[in-house]
Amino acid sequence: MTSTGHNRLLTTVDASSLRRDGDVVTFDYTDGLGQEHRGFILRWNDGFHAYRNRCPHWSTPLDEDGPQIFDHGSRALVCQTHGALFEPETGSCISGPCMGQSLKKLRVESAIDETEETIEIYDGGLTLS
Ligand code: FES
Repeated sequence: MTSTGHNRLLTTVDASSLRRDGDVVTFDYTDGLGQEHRGFILRWNDGFHAYRNRCPHWSTPLDEDGPQIFDHGSRALVCQTHGALFEPETGSCISGPCMGQSLKKLRVESAIDETEETIEIYDGGLTLS
C-alpha cells in the first residue's frame, strides 16, 4: 500500500551515524508526487531535525558548492552557495539572501529495539526532540 501526504515514510537512517551534535546524514527520497529530492538529517541539542536539501534562495542543495551543511562556528545550517544560515531546529533563514524563508521540514520519528535505534523520516513538519 502506498500512502501520500504527511504520513508517508521517505527513508530510514541508522542513529549510530548521528552521535554528536552537528552530525549530518544525507539521503535521497521520492515525494508523494514521484519527484526525486535530496534530504538531510541533523543531530542538534539531543534532537533530530530533517529537511529537504534545497535552499529557498536558488533551490540548490545546501552542499552544492562545499561539503558542509552544518557550520559549528555559527551553530547553524549553512548554504555553501551564498552563505545563508538557517536555524537548526526550525530551518528558518537567520542570515543571508533568503531571510524570512525556511527550509522544508520533514517529520522525524525513532524506533528503538534492543540493539539499535532507527530514525524514520516522513513527509511533514514535526520533529523528535
Ligand atoms: S542558493 Fe543558498 S544562499 Fe543562495
